[in-house]
Amino acid sequence: MMGTGKGTAAPRSALLDVLNRKPAQRRPIWFMRQAGRYLPEYRAVREKAGSFLDLCYNPELAAEVTVQPLRRYDLDAAILFADILVVPHAMGLPVTFAEGEGPVLGTVRSREDLDRLRQVAGTYEVNQVCRTVSLTRAQLAPNQALIGFCGAPWTVASYMVGGGSSDRVMAKVAAYQRQPWFCALIDRLVKESVDYLSAQGDAGAQAVQIFDSWAGDLVGTELEEFVMKPVADIVAGVKERHPALPIIVFARGVGMAQYKAAAIPGANAIGVETEFGLADLPKDVVVQGNLDPVALLAGSEVVAREVGRICSSIDRQRHIFNLGHGIRLGTDPSVVGAVVEAVRRHDE
Ligand code: CP3
Repeated sequence: MMGTGKGTAAPRSALLDVLNRKPAQRRPIWFMRQAGRYLPEYRAVREKAGSFLDLCYNPELAAEVTVQPLRRYDLDAAILFADILVVPHAMGLPVTFAEGEGPVLGTVRSREDLDRLRQVAGTYEVNQVCRTVSLTRAQLAPNQALIGFCGAPWTVASYMVGGGSSDRVMAKVAAYQRQPWFCALIDRLVKESVDYLSAQGDAGAQAVQIFDSWAGDLVGTELEEFVMKPVADIVAGVKERHPALPIIVFARGVGMAQYKAAAIPGANAIGVETEFGLADLPKDVVVQGNLDPVALLAGSEVVAREVGRICSSIDRQRHIFNLGHGIRLGTDPSVVGAVVEAVRRHDE
C-alpha cells in the first residue's frame, strides 16, 4: 500500500472530482503511455514477461508496470496496462507484436471473416485483463484513480482491416463504400467494447477512456457515422450498466469536431490533440490534454514554457493535464518528472 496522506478523511481523487465536476484539490495529471519502454523498470519487467502480449495477460506483472510510473511521479491516475488490440485478439483474431515493428493482425475483410470471431465476454484474454484491474486497484492509494480503456471501433477496425499496418486506406475505402461487412464490424466492435469496458468497471476501473487515435482520418458524414456515432453508442451502453463510471472520449485529430465529441451524451471529458487550442472550447466542457509529446524531447526548459502556456489557458477545475498523444520512446524519464513539477508549480 502506498501512503494515503494524513488525517481521518480519505484523500479524494482529483481526477474523479474533475470528471464529476466537483471542486478538486489540484489539477489532475496523468500521461498516455505513462507505462512503457522509456522507463528502465518497465523494460526489466517486459524482458521477464516474454512478449508484449504475454505481459498484457500476466496480471501480476501487468499490475506491476501499471503502478511503476506512480512510484516515480506524483500522478493522479494509473492507466491499466493492456492494449487496444486485446479486443480483436480476444475475438479470436491472430495478433502479434513484431519487435520494433508494431502489431501484425489476421485480417477481417468480409462477412465470413467477421462471423468467425467470438464474443469477448468471459474469454481468457478479458478475464486476465480484469484480474490486472483488480490487482492494480488494490495497490493504489484512494487518491490515485485507476483508468481502464478500449480502442474505439474506427481505430480498432482500421487495424483489423489493414492487418496491423498503419495504412488505413483499405478501411477508409470500405467506410466510404458503406461495405455491409465493414458496417457490421463497427457494430460488433460497439457491442464488444461495451462488454469489455463494463467488465473493467466491474473489476474496479474508476474511469474509462475510449481511444480513437485515428479519428482524424475521417471528415463529414464518415466522421459522424464511423467515429461519433459508435463512440456515442459505447458511452450510452456503458452508462446503462455503470451510470456513475466517468468516460473520457479521445477522438484524436478531429479539430473543430471536438465540439461534437464534447456533446456526446454521457461523455464526462474529451481528450484533445496537441494542435487544438484549449481556450477555444465551451466553458462547460472538461478537457484533457494536450502537451506535445515531442516537447519532452526538447528538454525541461521547453517543457516548463509549454506547461505554462497550457495551464494558463484553462481553468484547472475543468482541466486534466496530459499529453496530446502518448509518451514517445526515447523520452528522458527526468523530463516527465519536470512536466509534473511544472504543472504543480504553475498552480501554487
Ligand atoms: O501506459 C499506457 O498508456 C497504458 C497502456 C497502453 C498501451 N497501448 C501499451 C503499449 C495503451 C492505453 C495503449 C493504447 C494503444 N495501443 C493505442 C491508442 C493510443 C495511441 O497510442 O494512439 C494504439 C493505437 C495501440 C496499438 C499499438 N500498441 C501499437 C501501434 C503498438 C506498437 C507501437 C509501439 O509503440 O511499439 C503497440 C504496442 C504497445 N502498447 C507498447 C506499449 C507499452 C509497446 C510494446 C513493447 O513493450 O514492446
